[in-house]
Formats: sequence, structure tokens, C-alpha cells
Amino acid sequence: MADIRYSPQYSGRFIWEMRANQLSQLLDAKRRAGISLLDLTESNPTRSGITYPSAQLLEAIADPGWLVYEPTSAGLPRAREAVAAYYAARGYSVSPERVLLTASTSEAYSYLFKLLADPGDEVLVPRPSYPLFEFLAGLEAVQPVHYSLAYHGEWRIDFDSLGAALTPRTRAVVIVNPNNPTGSFLKRDECAQLMELCRANGLSLISDEVFSDFVSPATAKGNLVRSVVDETGVLTFSLSGLSKVAGLPQVKAGWIAVSGPPDACRDALSRLELIADTYLSVSSLVQHAMPRLLELGAAMQTAIQIRVQRNLSHLQAALAADSPARVLAAEGGWYATLEIPRNRSEEQWALELLELDNVIVQPGYFYDFEREAYLVLSLLTPEHTFAAGVARVLARVAG
Ligand SMILES: Cc1ncc(COP(=O)(O)O)c(C=O)c1O
Repeated sequence: MADIRYSPQYSGRFIWEMRANQLSQLLDAKRRAGISLLDLTESNPTRSGITYPSAQLLEAIADPGWLVYEPTSAGLPRAREAVAAYYAARGYSVSPERVLLTASTSEAYSYLFKLLADPGDEVLVPRPSYPLFEFLAGLEAVQPVHYSLAYHGEWRIDFDSLGAALTPRTRAVVIVNPNNPTGSFLKRDECAQLMELCRANGLSLISDEVFSDFVSPATAKGNLVRSVVDETGVLTFSLSGLSKVAGLPQVKAGWIAVSGPPDACRDALSRLELIADTYLSVSSLVQHAMPRLLELGAAMQTAIQIRVQRNLSHLQAALAADSPARVLAAEGGWYATLEIPRNRSEEQWALELLELDNVIVQPGYFYDFEREAYLVLSLLTPEHTFAAGVARVLARVAG
């Protein structure tokens, strides 16, 4: 991407220097030279060798209903009902009236920041987490402020840091459940504490649940909160979409499910509808196909889950007892976090792995880990690539 700096000709939102870093420069050079690379960062399911039911997916968009344009701000009833059915299958009762469609989870964030925050207001976002928050918030002129997740054998919210991050300008707390890349779910006691903090401070809760169907089979599920979509005490927005739920990021279909005190829900929904009505961004074609795409999504989810589990098992088995690396415990999601020795910086490790071993990994600082040194590996990577890449990573860190 070209360098983008502040210029008085443009809005002050553009505070990012987009200059290519050393890692992306080296990657470009390797690719230009035609060198074969083992990419352990692949997180696009459509490029990961997962088999999709192509004929059925194409049939799903053949519904002639979409030939007539019926603008509806919150989305067509059939699509919203399909989302309600998705939750019902997971044991949650969500009325379709509480669902508002968006083109993606990213768009859902932009609606929610418009709904909840004035320019300069703050939203609390976890750290480490999804690197897009800086842009999603910044482009709405909202300030993302970090609170910490701490690892002590499992990841948990550091409530001291959450409390310390509160200011009179805080408008909402964002959780990613399970978090990307740590794969950590919200625990029941954390959920209760979080709701109390939001209630006491008049904050809304935004819960990004795009990975919540991907629970590791080894996880004791009793203590995990899979979704906060049934929350009644605090105004809560649960986000998800076909991108992860059905492994279809290219379809561009997501949603916001609103829960909380009934009057607050009604009020928030009518404001959200006004925002959505301004853009009407979800295509009719997608809305008509949504019930079928969600049905078909179950098969893609299973295929992704199998891939993720196999790669994770391989990684765990490949780690010798005397390896200086360890995999951090995760309860779900699509990623593994590998803790590696701190005798080099994450950037040096990632550069060395690319330069000497032709392996692409993500350094932890991409996700704002508070300390070094971590590498993030995508468990969606094709299995043979993953196994070969992991062998090289482990050999390199073993020195
Ligand atoms: C935590 C999280 N939320 C949202 C998204 C993006 O979802 P969408 O494609 O619906 O914008 C991603 C994509 O990787 C993600 O990791």
C-alpha cells in the first residue's frame, strides 16, 4: 500500500504511515524472485484447499426473488429469520426483529461506532487482538483504547487494566469471543464481571462472535460463554457473519443481534435502521441466498474445524519436550500462538524464518501482544504446508 500520512488537504483520520515494513519488503522480493514459500498465515478459507459444495452454492444464488429490489433497512425478513434460526440451533432464542443485516462484521463496527460514539469518544478494545480495530475506530473518528488480556495457563480479561482504561469519554467495551488470535473464550465469571462494569458505567457491550462456532473439542465447555446474544441487563450487540460461520468472506454478509433492556434495544434498533437505511449495503442477491448459504455453511464449518484440529494436533505433537517453544492454550478459533525464545525480537525471528527458511509467519506485534516473543500461525493452512513449515520453525528456534 502507498504511504499515507497526515495532510491538511484531507481529513485528520489518516494518521497511519502505510510504508511497507522490512518483512513485507522481503516477502515482495522473495515473491518477485519466484521463490517457493511455506505460508503459515493463510486465513482465507477459499484459498486453503477446503472443498466447497460449489454446485449447491451456485444454486443458492439462483433464487429469482432477488430480481426485484425491495429496499429494507434492517434486511429482508427471510434473511433475518435465517439468522434467528442460526441462533436457535445453538440454543439461543433471538427474534428476527432484533437482527440487523450488514455487509460484513467490519461494517457492523462502523454502524455501532456511529451509533454510540461522538468524534473523540473512546471504545475499549482487547490487547492482544484483531489489528483492524485501529482502522475501524479511527475511520469513525473514535479512539480505540486497549485493555489487556493476560495469560496464566489460559487467557483472561485483566479487569484492573479494563478499569484503568475507563474515562468519561468511554462509550463501549469490545470483546472478541473467542479472541483472535489467542482463541480465548469469555468465561462465565468474566462475563458477569464485565456486565456489571458496563452496567455501572453506562457502557454498551460489543461482542464479536465470528469465531464462536469454532470451539476446540479438547475444551471443557461448561465455563465458556459462547454468545452474549441473550444478555438482558446491558445494551449488547453481538456480531457475526458468513465470513467465518460459513467460510464465505467473499459473500459479504454479516449481522448485528441486539439484546439488553427492551426499551434500550428498541431505541438502538431504530437508530441502527436509520444508519442502515442510509447505505442499504447488503445486496438483495445475498439476502435471498442467506437461508441456504447458512445451511450449506455447516459443511464448510465442519471442514474448517477438521483442518484446524489436525494442524493443532500436529503442532502439539511436533513440539519435543525439550523444545524452547510452546503453544499457548486456546479454547477455539483458527490460530495458534507459539511462544518462542526472547533471544531475538519477533521481527528478527520472522525475518530470519523468511530469509533463511522461506517460511511466512506473523509476529505477535501484529496483534499487539504486550510482550515478546510470539508467532501466530494460521491453523487453516493446508496440512502439508503446515507440517513442513512447522518443522522449519521448530528447527530454527531450537537453534
Ligand atoms: C475478530 C474478527 N472479526 C471480524 C473479522 C472480519 O469479518 P468480516 O469479514 O465479516 O468483516 C475478522 C476477520 O478476520 C476477525 O478476525
